[in-house]
Amino acid sequence: MGAKVAVIYWSRGGSTEQMAKAVAAGLKESGVDADLFKVSEVDSSVADKYNGFALGCPAMGKEVLEEKVFEPFFASIEKKLKGKDVALFGAYGWGDGKWMREWTERAEADGAKVLKPGLIVKTSTDFMSRIKQAFGKEQKIDQKPCLDYGRKLAERFAKGQKLHNSK
Ligand SMILES: Cc1cc2nc3c(=O)[nH]c(=O)nc-3n(C[C@H](O)[C@H](O)[C@H](O)COP(=O)(O)O)c2cc1C
Repeated sequence: MGAKVAVIYWSRGGSTEQMAKAVAAGLKESGVDADLFKVSEVDSSVADKYNGFALGCPAMGKEVLEEKVFEPFFASIEKKLKGKDVALFGAYGWGDGKWMREWTERAEADGAKVLKPGLIVKTSTDFMSRIKQAFGKEQKIDQKPCLDYGRKLAERFAKGQKLHNSK
Protein backbone atom coordinates (compact mmCIF):
# COMPACT_ATOMS: atom_id res chain seq x y z
CA MET A 1 0.00 0.00 0.00
CA GLY A 2 1.40 3.38 -1.00
CA ALA A 3 1.39 6.24 1.47
CA LYS A 4 -1.71 8.03 0.31
CA VAL A 5 -4.35 10.27 1.81
CA ALA A 6 -7.96 10.44 0.64
CA VAL A 7 -9.82 13.72 1.10
CA ILE A 8 -13.52 12.85 1.12
CA TYR A 9 -16.31 15.35 1.65
CA TRP A 10 -20.02 16.09 1.53
CA SER A 11 -21.17 19.63 0.83
CA ARG A 12 -24.48 21.16 -0.13
CA GLY A 13 -23.72 24.85 -0.42
CA GLY A 14 -20.09 24.52 -1.49
CA SER A 15 -18.36 25.77 1.67
CA THR A 16 -17.07 22.39 2.83
CA GLU A 17 -16.13 21.66 -0.79
CA GLN A 18 -13.88 24.74 -0.86
CA MET A 19 -12.36 23.62 2.43
CA ALA A 20 -11.72 20.14 0.98
CA LYS A 21 -9.94 21.55 -2.05
CA ALA A 22 -7.70 23.72 0.12
CA VAL A 23 -6.93 20.86 2.54
CA ALA A 24 -5.98 18.70 -0.46
CA ALA A 25 -3.80 21.52 -1.82
CA GLY A 26 -2.04 21.80 1.56
CA LEU A 27 -1.34 18.07 1.54
CA LYS A 28 -0.05 18.07 -2.03
CA GLU A 29 2.21 21.07 -1.65
CA SER A 30 3.75 19.25 1.33
CA GLY A 31 4.55 16.31 -0.93
CA VAL A 32 1.75 13.95 0.13
CA ASP A 33 -0.03 11.94 -2.51
CA ALA A 34 -3.65 13.04 -1.95
CA ASP A 35 -6.83 12.24 -3.87
CA LEU A 36 -10.00 14.32 -3.59
CA PHE A 37 -13.46 12.72 -3.66
CA LYS A 38 -17.07 13.68 -3.14
CA VAL A 39 -18.51 11.15 -0.71
CA SER A 40 -20.95 10.02 -3.44
CA GLU A 41 -17.96 8.86 -5.52
CA VAL A 42 -16.63 6.35 -2.99
CA ASP A 43 -17.76 3.46 -0.83
CA SER A 44 -16.32 1.72 2.21
CA SER A 45 -13.62 0.00 0.11
CA VAL A 46 -11.84 3.36 -0.06
CA ALA A 47 -10.75 2.73 3.53
CA ASP A 48 -8.63 -0.22 2.36
CA LYS A 49 -6.86 1.79 -0.34
CA TYR A 50 -5.63 4.74 1.72
CA ASN A 51 -3.75 5.01 4.97
CA GLY A 52 -4.69 8.56 5.85
CA PHE A 53 -7.95 10.46 5.60
CA ALA A 54 -9.22 14.02 5.64
CA LEU A 55 -12.99 13.87 6.02
CA GLY A 56 -15.27 16.86 5.52
CA CYS A 57 -18.91 17.32 6.44
CA PRO A 58 -20.80 20.42 7.65
CA ALA A 59 -23.01 20.53 10.74
CA MET A 60 -26.43 19.39 9.59
CA GLY A 61 -29.70 18.24 11.13
CA LYS A 62 -29.39 19.13 14.78
CA GLU A 63 -25.62 19.27 15.28
CA VAL A 64 -24.95 16.03 13.44
CA LEU A 65 -23.27 14.79 10.25
CA GLU A 66 -25.40 14.90 7.11
CA GLU A 67 -27.64 11.89 7.59
CA LYS A 68 -28.51 10.45 4.19
CA VAL A 69 -25.10 10.02 2.59
CA PHE A 70 -22.22 11.05 4.81
CA GLU A 71 -23.31 9.43 8.07
CA PRO A 72 -23.83 5.97 6.51
CA PHE A 73 -20.49 6.33 4.71
CA PHE A 74 -18.65 7.27 7.88
CA ALA A 75 -20.33 4.44 9.79
CA SER A 76 -19.16 2.03 7.07
CA ILE A 77 -15.49 2.99 7.35
CA GLU A 78 -15.05 3.91 10.99
CA LYS A 79 -13.87 0.52 12.16
CA LYS A 80 -11.18 0.63 9.48
CA LEU A 81 -9.74 3.91 10.74
CA LYS A 82 -7.92 2.31 13.64
CA GLY A 83 -4.33 3.51 13.86
CA LYS A 84 -4.71 5.78 10.82
CA ASP A 85 -4.18 9.54 10.64
CA VAL A 86 -7.53 11.23 10.30
CA ALA A 87 -8.29 14.94 9.89
CA LEU A 88 -11.87 16.19 10.25
CA PHE A 89 -13.24 19.45 8.87
CA GLY A 90 -16.46 21.18 7.95
CA ALA A 91 -18.47 24.37 7.74
CA TYR A 92 -21.19 25.33 10.21
CA GLY A 93 -23.72 28.09 10.55
CA TRP A 94 -24.93 28.87 14.04
CA GLY A 95 -23.92 26.25 16.56
CA ASP A 96 -20.77 26.07 18.66
CA GLY A 97 -19.09 23.20 16.86
CA LYS A 98 -20.80 20.44 18.85
CA TRP A 99 -21.05 18.20 15.80
CA MET A 100 -17.28 18.38 15.37
CA ARG A 101 -16.54 17.63 19.02
CA GLU A 102 -18.79 14.58 18.91
CA TRP A 103 -17.40 13.45 15.56
CA THR A 104 -13.87 13.77 16.93
CA GLU A 105 -14.72 11.72 20.02
CA ARG A 106 -16.33 9.08 17.86
CA ALA A 107 -13.31 8.80 15.56
CA GLU A 108 -10.99 8.59 18.56
CA ALA A 109 -13.15 5.86 20.08
CA ASP A 110 -12.65 4.01 16.77
CA GLY A 111 -8.90 4.20 17.39
CA ALA A 112 -8.14 6.80 14.73
CA LYS A 113 -5.27 9.23 15.28
CA VAL A 114 -7.33 12.38 14.91
CA LEU A 115 -5.58 15.64 14.11
CA LYS A 116 -7.06 17.82 16.82
CA PRO A 117 -8.80 20.16 16.92
CA GLY A 118 -10.87 19.44 13.84
CA LEU A 119 -11.12 22.42 11.49
CA ILE A 120 -14.41 24.28 11.60
CA VAL A 121 -15.33 27.36 9.57
CA LYS A 122 -18.34 29.49 10.40
CA THR A 123 -20.39 30.63 7.42
CA SER A 124 -23.01 33.38 7.22
CA THR A 125 -26.63 32.40 7.51
CA ASP A 126 -28.15 35.87 7.28
CA PHE A 127 -31.02 36.47 4.91
CA MET A 128 -28.99 37.76 1.96
CA SER A 129 -26.46 34.94 2.20
CA ARG A 130 -29.26 32.40 2.18
CA ILE A 131 -30.88 34.00 -0.84
CA LYS A 132 -27.58 34.06 -2.71
CA GLN A 133 -26.89 30.46 -1.78
CA ALA A 134 -30.35 29.43 -2.99
CA PHE A 135 -29.28 30.80 -6.37
CA GLY A 136 -26.12 28.74 -6.34
CA LYS A 137 -23.70 31.47 -5.30
CA GLU A 138 -21.36 29.97 -2.76
CA GLN A 139 -19.69 31.89 0.03
CA LYS A 140 -16.00 32.53 -0.29
CA ILE A 141 -14.13 30.54 2.36
CA ASP A 142 -10.77 31.70 3.72
CA GLN A 143 -8.25 29.25 2.26
CA LYS A 144 -5.43 29.84 4.72
CA PRO A 145 -6.64 27.82 7.74
CA CYS A 146 -7.59 24.97 5.39
CA LEU A 147 -4.20 24.97 3.64
CA ASP A 148 -2.54 25.01 7.08
CA TYR A 149 -4.65 22.12 8.30
CA GLY A 150 -3.66 20.14 5.20
CA ARG A 151 0.00 20.96 5.82
CA LYS A 152 -0.31 19.90 9.46
CA LEU A 153 -1.84 16.59 8.47
CA ALA A 154 0.92 16.11 5.90
CA GLU A 155 3.59 16.67 8.53
CA ARG A 156 2.11 14.13 10.91
CA PHE A 157 1.37 11.68 8.14
CA ALA A 158 4.96 11.82 6.86
CA LYS A 159 6.32 11.20 10.37
CA GLY A 160 4.02 8.22 10.86
CA GLN A 161 5.02 6.72 7.52
CA LYS A 162 8.71 7.09 8.33
CA LEU A 163 8.25 5.27 11.64
CA HIS A 164 6.21 2.63 9.88
CA ASN A 165 8.84 2.09 7.17
CA SER A 166 11.73 1.88 9.63
CA LYS A 167 10.06 -0.91 11.61
C1 LIG B 1 -30.71 21.34 7.05
C2 LIG B 1 -29.58 22.12 7.68
C3 LIG B 1 -29.23 21.87 8.99
C4 LIG B 1 -28.18 22.56 9.60
N1 LIG B 1 -27.86 22.32 10.92
C5 LIG B 1 -26.87 23.04 11.52
C6 LIG B 1 -26.54 22.81 12.89
O1 LIG B 1 -27.13 21.96 13.57
N2 LIG B 1 -25.55 23.57 13.44
C7 LIG B 1 -24.88 24.53 12.72
O2 LIG B 1 -23.98 25.16 13.27
N3 LIG B 1 -25.16 24.76 11.41
C8 LIG B 1 -26.14 24.04 10.80
N4 LIG B 1 -26.44 24.26 9.47
C9 LIG B 1 -25.67 25.27 8.71
C10 LIG B 1 -24.64 24.61 7.82
O3 LIG B 1 -23.74 23.83 8.56
C11 LIG B 1 -23.87 25.71 7.07
O4 LIG B 1 -24.77 26.39 6.21
C12 LIG B 1 -22.69 25.20 6.27
O5 LIG B 1 -21.96 26.30 5.77
C13 LIG B 1 -23.09 24.30 5.11
O6 LIG B 1 -21.93 23.81 4.49
P1 LIG B 1 -21.84 23.48 2.92
O7 LIG B 1 -21.83 24.81 2.21
O8 LIG B 1 -20.58 22.74 2.77
O9 LIG B 1 -23.05 22.66 2.56
C14 LIG B 1 -27.48 23.55 8.87
C15 LIG B 1 -27.85 23.81 7.53
C16 LIG B 1 -28.88 23.11 6.93
C17 LIG B 1 -29.23 23.40 5.49
